[in-house]
Amino acid sequence: IDFVVVGDICQTPSIDDLAILTNTALAVGSDGSIVWQCPAEDVSDIVEAHAAQGRLQRLSKGQFLTPGFIDTHIHASQHSYAGTGMDKPLMEWLDAYTFPVERQFAHLPTAEVHSLYRRAVRRTLRNGTTTAVYFATADRQASEALADVCAEEGQRAFVGKISMDRHCPPGYCETTEKSLEETARFIESFRQRPSIVQPVVTPRFIPTCSDELLAGLGALVREHGCHVQSHMSESIDEMQFVEAIHQLKDDHHKHNPYPPCPTDAEIFDRHGLLTDRCIMAHAIYLSEGDVERLRARGTAIAHCPLSNFYFAGGLLPVRSLLRSGVRVGLGTDVAGGYSPSMINAMQHAVTASRALSIQQHHERHRLAGVKPWEPFPAGSSDTTSPALDWVNALYLATRGGAEALNMGKQLGLLAEGYRFDAVLWDVTIGDNIDFTGSESRREQLEKLMHLGDDRNIACVWVDGQVSCRRRDRPAQADCK
Ligand code: GUN
Ligand code: FE
Repeated sequence: IDFVVVGDICQTPSIDDLAILTNTALAVGSDGSIVWQCPAEDVSDIVEAHAAQGRLQRLSKGQFLTPGFIDTHIHASQHSYAGTGMDKPLMEWLDAYTFPVERQFAHLPTAEVHSLYRRAVRRTLRNGTTTAVYFATADRQASEALADVCAEEGQRAFVGKISMDRHCPPGYCETTEKSLEETARFIESFRQRPSIVQPVVTPRFIPTCSDELLAGLGALVREHGCHVQSHMSESIDEMQFVEAIHQLKDDHHKHNPYPPCPTDAEIFDRHGLLTDRCIMAHAIYLSEGDVERLRARGTAIAHCPLSNFYFAGGLLPVRSLLRSGVRVGLGTDVAGGYSPSMINAMQHAVTASRALSIQQHHERHRLAGVKPWEPFPAGSSDTTSPALDWVNALYLATRGGAEALNMGKQLGLLAEGYRFDAVLWDVTIGDNIDFTGSESRREQLEKLMHLGDDRNIACVWVDGQVSCRRRDRPAQADCK
């Protein structure tokens, strides 16, 4: 045992269940895992022994732990223009902002690549993101730099070198062969890195990936068993683009009408890319068949609510997907979503879900021929599913993400056998929330999940190590 923490723990074992464990002792092993967790009074002699050796972290009254956040979809290369250009549709936005910025990563001095990525990684760590699933850029060396930075800063990360070989702008496009070769080299480079960083095979999205490329990436996934990520059925203009290239491809057959366009899910699946270690961002425009396909393959969705408000033109039916047996995690999608904070993503997940419920409520009343405030006629009833609330959002941001990555036995909970990836919240720091002192622990957490940010976080651990701590308040943040 490396150290023991004693205090309150708040976590979500299942989507509707908030567990608040008071005065709990948690022992962290030197390998970064939680060795045991139990009521502190049951182990008072062990706690005292660790205190005597200076290996006890006793949380103060205003502090408590939650599991760290898992950001299942974020572009580490896109922080520089976050918060600009939000007026454009997706495909124009990619051309105007994303591609020019990402292309530069192959030409920047190494020190600058490191510095850009270090800022991105520290920013999310400070906001409680202990695991991030990253898109880097198409450049292998710069993407390896991101993996190195994550290892140095102590953030658990899945790092993707982007693959793209068609419909890309000049100067930011790979040949199929080069993309596959570089991806294989990228994956192999992880042998030299600690296990908290892992490679993820990353076809950008269907518009920029040929069938040959996807087939080759599928083979790499089978060979190395690594995770997969991409964007799927993301926006109205992306759906139109995929249909348009499908029609072009079949033009010479003079099909009339064209054969039906395969969905993004069908195309990925054809190449063996939908696995139980695959996470697809957005997935707004899924057919019923797609939902069943994702369920059958064990493929998860990275829900990126803020980004969806701007680019998708649709709302993800999270409850209904979970009911169908599809796993869902939460993502910020910087820069499609402008905020790097998972608390912000949680807030937008709640807002998006409420918007969906409101829309359904109005639609059902309209169809029933009654006003929104009038009761349904006899024989019909309102079957609108309840909107997600902050507890559900906390689940998606922690345990939901862990399940989505197929790491539900290692991440997302502070319990025996899990990795110690944790956030220390402190209601006595930060000037952004008024705490009266009379809130229950649950109310404190509720306030933090709605109003909180990095100012309320005293310390962040990943794999049992302190990755980030507030330096301006040493008294409150003397973390082990
Ligand atoms: N779809 C394809 N590439 C991207 C990207 O960089 N950001 C977002 N939000 N969507 C994409
Ligand atoms: Fe994205």
